[in-house]
Amino acid sequence: MVLPEIQRSLFERRVRERMRLCGLDVMSYYHLVQVHSLEWQQLVEDLVVHETAFFRHLPSYELLEQRLPHFGGAVHIWSVGCSTGEETWSLAMLADAHAQHGFSIMASDISESVLNIARKGLYSWRKAEKIPAKYREYCIALPKLQTKSTVHASSMTTQDWHIGDYLRERVFFHRFNLMDTSSAPFRKLQIIFCQNVLIYFRQFDRRDILDALVQRLDLGGLLVLGPGEMADWDHPAMKRVKYAGTLAYERVKI
Ligand SMILES: C[S@@+](CC[C@H](N)C(=O)[O-])C[C@H]1O[C@@H](n2cnc3c(N)ncnc32)[C@H](O)[C@@H]1O
Repeated sequence: MVLPEIQRSLFERRVRERMRLCGLDVMSYYHLVQVHSLEWQQLVEDLVVHETAFFRHLPSYELLEQRLPHFGGAVHIWSVGCSTGEETWSLAMLADAHAQHGFSIMASDISESVLNIARKGLYSWRKAEKIPAKYREYCIALPKLQTKSTVHASSMTTQDWHIGDYLRERVFFHRFNLMDTSSAPFRKLQIIFCQNVLIYFRQFDRRDILDALVQRLDLGGLLVLGPGEMADWDHPAMKRVKYAGTLAYERVKI
């Protein structure tokens, strides 16, 4: 994981906080994270950036809207670095509306805490603002609070709608470190959606990750990145998709 220089003081603060909680100096803490996987996981949880939103980069979703109806069979999608699930559920809404032969989604992230939020699929109405009106039917309102004693009042303002069972049955969340992509046990996929994740890796790791993602794509499959994330990357099996404002590639060779 690479953090920009601008985040150095944040990084140092978070590591110092973990050292303080563990009661260790820097070298002892350094040794601890190498042998204690739970502490390593906790440190990762504290360091990663989970910012996300529904339909965060609209042109990428518009591209998929256009392409989804043309897949000849079920569409299998991987939402890479899914954070708290907004990206994944946006893809699920889109796939349900436009894939002609069914779909499934595998969503992964390194952080177990965000995956737990994603799995619940409970969000505030404020978060639904970015969902285009035509997909709002997928947001199912939670029943209104009847008695203050049964539900904490604050939970009603922060989590007041949920993703319906129909979509939930087609989506699987899975903890996975992108640095292990070569060992990913996934089938050949039609769409890999990887946005705002590669920025946390060194340039040469990004290339290795992208090459490994290509191996998971079926012929005709799409790799959708965030715009500007990896402009100088090319691969002999991949052809750039021309769609305004997006950075996407299609697998054209096995
Ligand atoms: C900024 S969020 C992007 C979320 C979503 N893709 C989007 O564009 O809105 C980056 C996510 O990548 C995850 N991440 C960072 N390093 C990772 C790694 N090595 N393996 C898997 N996920 C990772 C973080 O936990 C975080 O949830």
